[in-house]
Formats: sequence, C-alpha cells, structure tokens
Amino acid sequence: MKIAFIGGGVMGEAMVSAILDKGLAKPEAVWASDVSQARLKYLKQKYGVAVTESNLEAISGKDVVVLAVKPLNLAEVMTELGGQLKSTQLVLSIIAGARIGTLRLGLKHGCIARVMPNTPAQIGEGMSVWTATPEVTEQQRGLVGAILGAMGRELYVDDEKYIDMATAVSGSGPAYFFLVVESLVDAAVEIGLPRDMARELVLQTMLGSGRLIQKSGEEPAELRRKVTSPGGTTAEALLQFEKEGFTDLVKRAVKAAYDKAKRLGG
Ligand SMILES: NC(=O)c1ccc[n+]([C@@H]2O[C@H](COP(=O)([O-])OP(=O)(O)OC[C@H]3O[C@@H](n4cnc5c(N)ncnc54)[C@H](OP(=O)(O)O)[C@@H]3O)[C@@H](O)[C@H]2O)c1
Repeated sequence: MKIAFIGGGVMGEAMVSAILDKGLAKPEAVWASDVSQARLKYLKQKYGVAVTESNLEAISGKDVVVLAVKPLNLAEVMTELGGQLKSTQLVLSIIAGARIGTLRLGLKHGCIARVMPNTPAQIGEGMSVWTATPEVTEQQRGLVGAILGAMGRELYVDDEKYIDMATAVSGSGPAYFFLVVESLVDAAVEIGLPRDMARELVLQTMLGSGRLIQKSGEEPAELRRKVTSPGGTTAEALLQFEKEGFTDLVKRAVKAAYDKAKRLGG
C-alpha cells in the first residue's frame, strides 16, 4: 500500500507509527506532507518516511490519501487538492466535523472514508468509528479496517450521523478521562496523600475498573452497586455526586461537544 498523509501532527504521526508497526506499508511507501518543516524533519528521522512540503507531490500515485490537518486548514487543502485526485484513490479523512458532502464537493472526488479516531491510537489502544461512500470498494473497506485496526479498535457505521456523535464520546472522550484522573489526584492530595502515591492509586484504579467492566461483561451500574455497601464510604461519596448533579453534568458536557461537532460540519 502507498499512503500519503496531508498533515503530520499528533494524529497523523499516530497513524504512521501504527501502519509501520503492523507492516501495512514500507517506510518508503509512506509520505507525509506538512507546512511545518520541523515536523517533516522529525517524521523522516523517527520513521524513515518520505516527506514533502507539497501536498500535490504527496498524493501522486498513492492508494490512500489521509487528511489529517486541523478543521480550520481544510478549506486551503481542498482548494489545493480539488480535482487532482484519481477516482480510484481513497481519501481517508480524520478531520472532526468535516462532512462527506463537504469533502466530496471541495475535493471533486467521491471515494471517501470519514473516520473519527482518538489519541490512545498513539499506543495502539484507540477507538475509531468510520463510514464510507458507495464509491469505496470492498477491498478499500478492508484496507480502512486494517489501517484503523492497527491503531486499536474500529467500528464501521453505515450512517454518517453517528460520526458526530462518536466525536463527542470517543473522539473527545480521552480528555474527559484525563480530567477525571486529574480531579481525583487533586482530591487525593487534598485529603493528605503524597502526589506520587495519589497518581499511582488513581491510575491503577481507573485502568483496573475499566478492565473489570470489559472482562466481567457486567453493567457498570451493577459493578458500582457491588462496591457500595449501604451506609458505607462509597455510598457517602456517591450521594455527594448525586446531590451535585454529576450525571446531568456529564450529559450536558457530551451534548455541548456533539452540538459543536455539528456546528463544525456547518
Ligand atoms: N487530537 C485528537 O484528539 C483528535 C482526535 C480525533 C480526530 N482528530 C482530528 O485529527 C485532525 C488532526 O489533528 P491533530 O491533533 O493531529 O492536529 P495537529 O497536531 O495540529 O496536526 C495537523 C498538522 O497539519 C499541519 N498543516 C496545517 N495546514 C496544513 C496544510 N495546508 N497542508 C499540510 N499540512 C498542514 C499542521 O502544521 P501547523 O501546526 O504548523 O499548522 C500540523 O502539523 C484534526 O482535524 C482533528 O479534528 C484529532
């Protein structure tokens, strides 16, 4: 497979690393194009991939073209690449909020997969949700599955509406988790635990609890009930969460992210 990355930032690098790691492409068949020379130098040195400052040079002769720039840079990229892609080239966009209709129109191109990945992809623990246009062949769909599977789990959806929803849940989700970890560590320090110890306790508790949900197959609510003895310490904490409207707060936050994802898509 020959693949080009338009934008070699955080997510672009995560994908490059995963693809090379799983042997889906040789370094010389992976091209990265970026406006930042420092970024290109870094990617070339670390991964041995081919680099260029020209997006047009990058896409030439590639089977897959990954759009990995920030949403605000999409318009300039579409102006540059519009009408320049061969109809059989697969465009794989990870740009939050960028609708397939927008990409189709801007690129004058139909063979498109739209993906919402997340940052744990950097360590092969990502969650990617994706959809594709009818022009994407079965073989190309297999390729998308393999590329995203190299970064963690992948889930195909046949309706694009789920991508904006996934953006608010799994795309932004790592930040929610980091906030919970930060808050718990701060709370632990406040009651007297040394920070290092607090961090270790919180992190292992979060990871262990996540794995318990996964391995036991039990509902989180059921597992929560099992930790909560009537009149005990957990019940006391949960009562406080309830009084302060924790569940509603989470709902409002996710809804705000979802609304923003829809607004980004125009
Ligand atoms: N990070 C996440 O958690 C996450 C999760 C899911 C999806 N995404 C999506 O992934 C995309 C990339 O995010 P990221 O975090 O990897 O962003 P990033 O680190 O800023 O990477 C984007 C790169 O593209 C470069 N660039 C800007 N304009 C360009 C152009 N015209 N041609 C080529 N390269 C250009 C940027 O250079 P400069 O920095 O010099 O402008 C930067 O190096 C975004 O659209 C985002 O919505 C991100």
